[in-house]
Amino acid sequence: MAVGNTFGAGPASGKDMKMPAFDIEAHRGGRALLPENTLLSFANALSMGVNTLELDIGVTRDGVIVVSHERGLNPDLARGVDGKYVTAPGTPFVQLTLEEVKQYDVGQLRPGSTYAAQFPDQHAVPGTRIPTLKELIDLVRRSGDQDVRLNIETKIDPNHPEESPTPERFVALLLELLRTEKFENRVMVQSFDWRTLQLVQKLAPEIPTVYLTLQAARNPTVFPDKASEWTAGFNPAEHQGSIPRTIKAAGGAIWSPYWRDVTPERLAECRTLGLKVVVWTVNQAADMTRLIEMGVDGVISDRPDLLRKTAGEKGIALPAAHPVTP
Ligand code: G3P
Ligand code: CA
Repeated sequence: MAVGNTFGAGPASGKDMKMPAFDIEAHRGGRALLPENTLLSFANALSMGVNTLELDIGVTRDGVIVVSHERGLNPDLARGVDGKYVTAPGTPFVQLTLEEVKQYDVGQLRPGSTYAAQFPDQHAVPGTRIPTLKELIDLVRRSGDQDVRLNIETKIDPNHPEESPTPERFVALLLELLRTEKFENRVMVQSFDWRTLQLVQKLAPEIPTVYLTLQAARNPTVFPDKASEWTAGFNPAEHQGSIPRTIKAAGGAIWSPYWRDVTPERLAECRTLGLKVVVWTVNQAADMTRLIEMGVDGVISDRPDLLRKTAGEKGIALPAAHPVTP
């Protein structure tokens, strides 16, 4: 596996980070309820009350940050002006202007698709557009919620460099927007591609970085015995084969693993290291309860309503509702 590392370890991130006692995060705004990564889903989450809005971002050809899980138009989500879902592979955002991106409707999952079958209760709202990050920040301001934070994921894949900006341009555009909006103290930056996290730590050490990992899966992003193209040259073999130790050495503030990868032993190691642990993406109440009892610091869920209920039943203080319309 090729590993290109021009990124030596950046300084530790988010030293002054204020975390809620427990972090209730609405994944893509709450994808099981409303169209993902849209002002509709984010307004819904703000209206019920969450600690954090989780979201994914890409960059258009004209340098605008848009909120989307895919690096381009998603054939299971995006319909053109002709009413037809785009054909695979969808055009990457780096090839489209914002004006072009805004022509697509992402308010309804493609009927009959495997993806739609995963979220049968998602309420479709045809006519919904892909938002910009600036529009989301405006929505948060309008809600009056002074506490909610954004957990912003840079969607960049080292195996497909042509589908996103370089890590340097991606981070520069993100930080420019956050600074213009004076929103740096309301965000975390997360990524599977640790290159962008290293740059954030170097250029904006006040922003906590969140190291995403996937281990127990067909396509892992990290391995105990070697670096991968995702890890910006950091090699767990040099850190006792431990992913948490590697993230600590990389300067991360939070480890965000796939929830099935967390064990009590790994959690205990994070405690020793002073690393927070926020797991993704947990949608069943029994799993939420088990992970809360295990001691994770936060949960990311497509069902923020269920997560609030489950956390409340465990005696966790719930964030206040801030009703807002998209
Ligand atoms: O925040 C972590 C989680 O969102 C990562 O997975 O694929 O849903 O972006 P994904
Ligand atoms: Ca994400």
